[in-house]
Amino acid sequence: MSARVTLSEEERQSLLESARLCEMIVEANPSDTGALESLKEIYTKLGDRERLGQVMGRLATIATGRPLARGASASGAGSGAAPEAATATASAERRQGPLVGRLGDRLVAEGLITAEQLERALSEQKGTRDKLGSILVRMNFLSEEKLLSFLTRQYSVPSVNLSQLEIDTDVLRLVPSALAERLQVLPVKREGNVLTLAMADPTNVLALDDVAFRTNLQIQPVVASELSIRQAIERLYGSNGEAVADMMSELEGAEADVEVLEGQDEFATKTDVFELKESADEAPVVRLMNMILVDAIRRGASDIHLEPYEKTFRVRFRIDGVLHEIMGPPKRLEAALTSRVKIMANLDIAERRLPQDGRVKLRYHHREIDFRVSTLPTIFGEKTVMRILDKEALQLDLTKLGFDPWSLEQFTRAIRNPYGMIMITGPTGSGKTTTLYSAIHTINSPDINIMTAEDPVEYNLKGVNQLQVNDEIGRTFGSALRSFLRQDPDVILVGETRDLETAQIAIRAALTGHLVLSTVHTNDCPSTIARLLDMGVPPFLVSSALVLILAQRLARRVCADCKEPYEADEESLEPYGHVPDGLGKVHFYRGKGCQTCSFTGMKGRVAIYEVMPISQELRDLVLRNAPTAEIREVAQSQGMRSLRQNALRKVLDGVTTVEEVLRVTLG
Ligand SMILES: Nc1ncnc2c1ncn2[C@@H]1O[C@H](COP(=O)(O)OP(=O)(O)O)[C@@H](O)[C@H]1O
Ligand SMILES: [Mg+2]
Ligand SMILES: [Zn+2]
Repeated sequence: MSARVTLSEEERQSLLESARLCEMIVEANPSDTGALESLKEIYTKLGDRERLGQVMGRLATIATGRPLARGASASGAGSGAAPEAATATASAERRQGPLVGRLGDRLVAEGLITAEQLERALSEQKGTRDKLGSILVRMNFLSEEKLLSFLTRQYSVPSVNLSQLEIDTDVLRLVPSALAERLQVLPVKREGNVLTLAMADPTNVLALDDVAFRTNLQIQPVVASELSIRQAIERLYGSNGEAVADMMSELEGAEADVEVLEGQDEFATKTDVFELKESADEAPVVRLMNMILVDAIRRGASDIHLEPYEKTFRVRFRIDGVLHEIMGPPKRLEAALTSRVKIMANLDIAERRLPQDGRVKLRYHHREIDFRVSTLPTIFGEKTVMRILDKEALQLDLTKLGFDPWSLEQFTRAIRNPYGMIMITGPTGSGKTTTLYSAIHTINSPDINIMTAEDPVEYNLKGVNQLQVNDEIGRTFGSALRSFLRQDPDVILVGETRDLETAQIAIRAALTGHLVLSTVHTNDCPSTIARLLDMGVPPFLVSSALVLILAQRLARRVCADCKEPYEADEESLEPYGHVPDGLGKVHFYRGKGCQTCSFTGMKGRVAIYEVMPISQELRDLVLRNAPTAEIREVAQSQGMRSLRQNALRKVLDGVTTVEEVLRVTLG
């Protein structure tokens, strides 16, 4: 912490960079002492007395427990006392007088709506957090212009049209989008100490106070309709994911709970490495990386992508199978952030030209979370992907995965078989491993010996002998299977059947008293048979060993927090392959978009299954080498419903949407 007398230009630049980042953190959360402490250190090093004074002042303010003086310019040291009557307070007082009546009553009194309309709007409002004004507009009782001009007159606050307005990003950053969203406000412009804030309800003193407190500015409210504010928030904040400052404030404090459990750094041999390490250890970089991790965990992401492009740097999360752009940190932070991840994962930070793999174990709120880290040099720099392996998120209850009753019954019956082969098929990330683990969890008991060969072993299952396949040392699925057979197993899980050798041993095991579970990559159940035959397995072996084939996909669920019904016809699903049950008019559901689902309307996933039990008739077809289409037809006549059909039923159940079904299943 000692002040340095001379700094190299490089050191100075890096300190300035850190300072900027910290200032952003403080901007988003004025009471962030961690960031303020970092700033203190940085300004001390830089010898910037003036800024140091300001920081000390802010720290003193927080230490004395006195709320930051509203309207004061981050003062304390140096600048004068806060002007007494800040605008926010003044306008709040000014409103007391004429505003005794409630909005609805005043609208009725003015003859803008009828008492009956008010009543209907109020009953519509019950149980929601919607504003009366916007409900009236939505119900067509009142035009938006009339409402606005009414608000303007009543509160003597000017109105603003947000639809074309371009707002400076520095101004936007003053109010993080999450806060703007929650309070239904939008920062419009800043002049000196005064922030003009568009509000749907200028009487919302709490919102005024909240923004005044956070920004440390005087607030000048202006009126805009709730709808236009919401649209402006989406348009302005939405453009590059979320502003960096935004997520920082959202995550304030949380990153402090992150603890790296493994992967301490022991490099730092070359000088440039040392510098890189130093900058990666700089508090702001560590904080930003931790925030990214925490944010990813909270949003339930499965992967984090840190991607360098020619002029930009991008952070994306995969959530429920879909990539979302989260933020674009400054390009200059790229090296430091990437190095930070590599340090955490115990990788060689000096090596930037070869791909590397590693693991990080983090503790977050008493949860231990594993990350699999992989780096890959691309033309514009190293791309890093972190796969999140959250043991606690692992769902092992077969009944909760998404099975319809018929498929569940078929599948549970099959896994209780003493021997035979069960094949699970679907693309990567379709939930196959989860289904397999759940199956094993269901049949696991002390009196049976379960052995698995996996690539990689993703989770440790209690009481199960798991083996990691490693092609490099010749421990392939095939060779693992062979050694298993000498270990007296009852149930064998073969992670993937990708070659004839594995398929043959697996099938032989299935025919000699073992239950064998495995996966293949095919489109659906019927084509799995052709796949096995194509590999070279003789038809009589396939026909006698197979017990059941299961195909699956994962579809995103409609967000439970913002789900709303709308009227539809069951028949509208017919063109997609649905066979109507004569339900006629039905309700489908969609997500309006809310905080929980990051305004996508979808949150969480559900498995879609196609289950094909191998009946005697199907066995005969396999033996005869019947075409896939014929196998499919017979299977359907015996109760199998296609992936698409089962998925469409989930639309009728209100679980997912038609678009989502079309996205994840083929017709
Ligand atoms: N039935 C399910 N419902 C919701 N999420 C699931 C379900 N099955 C799997 N997932 C999630 O989807 C991701 C991929 O699942 P995984 O079983 O690893 O797929 P695969 O083995 O086909 O690649 C995991 O994050 C997992 O938690
Ligand atoms: Mg898998
Ligand atoms: Zn939602």
